[in-house]
Amino acid sequence: MNENGQIEARRQLDIIETCKQEIADRARELGRPLTYHISTFGCQMNFKDSEKLAGILEQLGYVEACDEKADFVLLNTCTVRENANLKVYGHLGILKSYKKKNPNMMIALCGCMMQEDVVLKKIQESYRFVDIIFGTHNIYKLAELIQTRMHSNRMVIDIWKDAKEIVEDLPSVRKYSFKAGVNIMFGCNNFCTYCIVPYVRGRERSREPEDIIAEIECMVRDGVVEVMLLGQNVNSYGKTLEQKITFAELLRRVEQIEGLKRIRFMTSHPKDLSDDLIAVMKDSNKICRHIHLPVQCGSSRLLEKMNRRYTKEQYLALVRKIREAMPDISLTTDIMVGFPGETEEDFQDTIDVVRQAEYDSCYTFIYSKRTGTPAAKEEQVPEEIVKERFQRLLDVVAEESAKRTGRLEGRTAEVLVEGVSEQDSSMVTGRLSNNLLVHFPGTEDMIGKLIMVRLDEAKGFYYIGSVVE
Ligand code: 5AD
Ligand code: SF4
Repeated sequence: MNENGQIEARRQLDIIETCKQEIADRARELGRPLTYHISTFGCQMNFKDSEKLAGILEQLGYVEACDEKADFVLLNTCTVRENANLKVYGHLGILKSYKKKNPNMMIALCGCMMQEDVVLKKIQESYRFVDIIFGTHNIYKLAELIQTRMHSNRMVIDIWKDAKEIVEDLPSVRKYSFKAGVNIMFGCNNFCTYCIVPYVRGRERSREPEDIIAEIECMVRDGVVEVMLLGQNVNSYGKTLEQKITFAELLRRVEQIEGLKRIRFMTSHPKDLSDDLIAVMKDSNKICRHIHLPVQCGSSRLLEKMNRRYTKEQYLALVRKIREAMPDISLTTDIMVGFPGETEEDFQDTIDVVRQAEYDSCYTFIYSKRTGTPAAKEEQVPEEIVKERFQRLLDVVAEESAKRTGRLEGRTAEVLVEGVSEQDSSMVTGRLSNNLLVHFPGTEDMIGKLIMVRLDEAKGFYYIGSVVE
């Protein structure tokens, strides 16, 4: 972290201390602790941000509530598709009625959706009961924003167009004691023509490798055995640093951390996935056998219009190269249907990729027009055609994944146990290196441990197994 980042982090820690007193005073008046709830929408980045926000709230003395009937409610929003925005407005309608019953309640909004001018305007005009609005670049300021709101009776708005320094080392909570996400970079420079992320998350910025390693070492001392390295495009990690470093090189360094058992990462852009990365993965026994490799669509013509910078053939060649090096790898992807100008022929290319790439799972989306992106100005494909294609895609995805079900049956593999099964308390649930879920008879004390399990029976998306003594 640079000097400005350190100064800002210290300033925020001081604010947390003073704000904590004020919150304790309020709690005394009420005769109970103040409660908080965070509802998170969207991707892993947002979930990671929510852990940081929860860390600040807990440091301030707020206690987590199980639902949105809390004293402080924060919606951490996503805007990647229009649906995500609609969900937030739905929640706001409900929160308004809660606030009527609890006048002490504070409602805050943050995240990607807040970076859009049209959204901000709409909330200022139609959702006057919201107390605090901030964006994606200044989440570390939460305590300061709460303090400002406590001393004024106006909506507090603090949205930055761009990120300043990276501020680290503020409190954070972790959902799991044994696994954690670690930001390695923020923002995105790719400007895929359908995507709003570069506009709301800003330009690509990588964290210094030393800061990343120190954070992971600290987590490992705390009991973490698996980390997920997070970035919109991890394969371009390090390009913006003064001392250049590649993602493959970072992985080599993370691998050396003693006590760390598993390394995952997300998301990989196919255009930047290097031979060196494949080599590091192949030689590693900590890096998990899973790559999320969004293809978006199978038509080279549309891929060019999307500014993805690879062709169908290049993508499939990459898939083959990865599978040759690691035959047991699990590949997953994101696919979009209905990008402007998509013809039946383009769509057939997408189907062809799904048939050839042998994905373990596909996240499928209907293209959603995002104001301000280049694709929004193009002629849109009629809704009925898109819906019909989407259904056909779902059918092919299901057919292809059925073919892969059961391929590991009878094998023995290491499982990281994540919790007691929700359906059956005599079973535990864990994940294979390739990210597939396994349920097997076990006990709570197995949580966070790596256990050898025989994969007895495949059940669609998961396996039923038994412990190998
Ligand atoms: N419409 C639909 N899906 C989108 N994605 C990104 N932007 C859009 C959009 N405008 C999808 C991409 C990306 C995933 C995170 O969300 O498939 O990989
Ligand atoms: Fe969006 Fe493309 Fe960046 Fe992914 S790589 S966040 S799809 S612009």
